[in-house]
Amino acid sequence: MNKEIRLILVLFISLLFGACAPEESIGKAVPEKTRVTDSNETVKIGFSMDTLKEERWLKDQALFKKAVEELGAEVEIVAANGDDALQLTQAETLIQQGIDLLVIVPHNAEATAAIVQKAHRAGIKVIAYDRLVKNADIDLYVSFDNEQVGEMQAESILELVPTGNYVYIGGATTDNNVHLIKKGVFNVLQPAINRGDIKIVYDQWTEDWSPEKAFLNMTEALAVNNNKIDAVIAANDATAGGVIQALEAQGLAGQIPVAGQDAELAAAQRIVGGTQTMTVYKPIQILTEQAAALAVRMAKGEDVNTVKYVNNGKIDVPSILLTPIPVTVENMRDTVIADGFHTGTDVYGVVDE
Ligand code: GAL
Repeated sequence: MNKEIRLILVLFISLLFGACAPEESIGKAVPEKTRVTDSNETVKIGFSMDTLKEERWLKDQALFKKAVEELGAEVEIVAANGDDALQLTQAETLIQQGIDLLVIVPHNAEATAAIVQKAHRAGIKVIAYDRLVKNADIDLYVSFDNEQVGEMQAESILELVPTGNYVYIGGATTDNNVHLIKKGVFNVLQPAINRGDIKIVYDQWTEDWSPEKAFLNMTEALAVNNNKIDAVIAANDATAGGVIQALEAQGLAGQIPVAGQDAELAAAQRIVGGTQTMTVYKPIQILTEQAAALAVRMAKGEDVNTVKYVNNGKIDVPSILLTPIPVTVENMRDTVIADGFHTGTDVYGVVDE
């Protein structure tokens, strides 16, 4: 049974049962949450993740756990392997287990609205982590500024390639970030496009952020343009890896500038090796510490005020947007390595004193 049908089925069943069970019985089915005011009571945070497929999510998982526990709270972490139905049932289980607050990385920005509704019915607030939940009364959104990610990618590449044929390899459309990143890229590229200096000769999304799909798309981009490509912007390092494999197959790796995101180790190695031009580094340590502190405060009933808001199609969500960092071979040491995100030895492949 494919994923979509299973999700619809699970959603239908949970709504059916949700719909026919009178309000008060829902209260009973899911223990009414009273705000944890007694500071002796240990706060319990639920962290529902989309996937652990990309390298960064393993860091998010480990660093968020550490940050929450350092605040004297408990955390239960689950990952749904890109499966919407599983993310829904995992969230229901966390709610049943009596969490005080839910932090969520949605696989599907729209489908996750049902989870927010269920959590709120149980009196549990929800924080969207890194990726926004669309069309839901989300309580807080904590992420990096994804539009800035796209702007940084395009600025780096446009500096090197002011004229020529560009390829854009976007991410998974289920992820709201891909629209923000792409908006940032075209904020920077559009004037050059309007002047006729650059031409977007291929523009494709990548289902599930799959490197294999990015490889196939880039292979097609090269074929339909007779390899006449001057620059590539890929939405993250995993897809950039697929792009560079396709360039390698044509003997073009290292000759065509490629942008990525996430500062994955393989990307950092490609950058110092010359086959990738840049990546956008997002210090996960800062994101997890901020999200953990806000989650524990909100679970204890504190209000959190923000200066920024991001509209999710339903409300202006109070938001904390952190600043990402563009990384090239020039500042690799002062950023990714200085922060201990990767060691010099791992990046340069030689013992790095
Ligand atoms: C995005 C995230 C990126 C990237 C991608 C794939 O939402 O912001 O860092 O890794 O997901 O999981």
